[in-house]
Amino acid sequence: MNKALSMILVLAAVAGFSGAASAQDAKAGEKKAAMCIGCHGIPGYQASFPEIHKVPMISGQSGKYIVAALNAYKKGERKHPTMKGIAASLTDQDMADLGAFYETHGGPAKNADAPAPTPPAQVAELLKKGNCASCHGENLNKPIDPSYPKLAGQHADYLYVALKAYQTENNSRWAAPTPSWPAWPSLSAMPS
Ligand code: HEC
Ligand code: HEC
Repeated sequence: MNKALSMILVLAAVAGFSGAASAQDAKAGEKKAAMCIGCHGIPGYQASFPEIHKVPMISGQSGKYIVAALNAYKKGERKHPTMKGIAASLTDQDMADLGAFYETHGGPAKNADAPAPTPPAQVAELLKKGNCASCHGENLNKPIDPSYPKLAGQHADYLYVALKAYQTENNSRWAAPTPSWPAWPSLSAMPS
């Protein structure tokens, strides 16, 4: 089996494990989301770590990805201090409920079938080079696995910070990057 495929299977297994605690309950998640809306519910609200960027939109993101991300903060694979603190206080059931709630909550990135706008030539080149659509979907909003994020419609400055975090050594949000995965395009070529 090639490395990328085995990594995907590992990721899928991890996501399946954490989500398996018990059935998700979107109604219960709605109540629990009271502690999230202070940051994720304010349009344009900005975070200041590791640099100033907008808090990512999570409404309409897939529930499995939300659970995977929360687990990564809880385990320390993702370093953001505030989210680490918040995730540490959540049980598997809380995460499953929150994922179920946000998945159905609507928001800009939410129609997984909407066609993506045509990117400028330079961006199209980077997307091709990184083979981004092979995982995130043709329109970048229909990932091949629900534990992968939808990207289209997300705040540009958050996506930039997220990509930089993967690139920084010892700050990888991917637990175990595999050499066979596509090389990331040079960040100097990215619009900031
Ligand atoms: C004090 C502000 C704050 C609160 C409260 C907060 N978050 Fe966050 N959240 C952030 C910031 C800032 C980030 C981006 C962190 C990073 O760069 O890794 C984030 C990232 C996330 C992500 C990852 C999104 C992605 O696209 O990868 C998820 C999922 C998430 N938060 C869920 C929640 C949930 C669920 C709650 C409530 C239980 C919550 N957050 C409460 C500020 C907050
Ligand atoms: C082999 C599959 C794969 C490929 C190819 C891939 N990604 Fe990803 N991407 C993922 C996974 C899985 C995650 C979630 C990782 C995590 O939880 O930290 C992710 C996360 C991201 C994030 C963070 C989103 C967020 O909400 O935090 C961005 C931005 C991103 N990818 C952009 C890209 C771009 C741009 C390309 C092409 C240059 C690309 N990806 C290629 C699998 C892939």
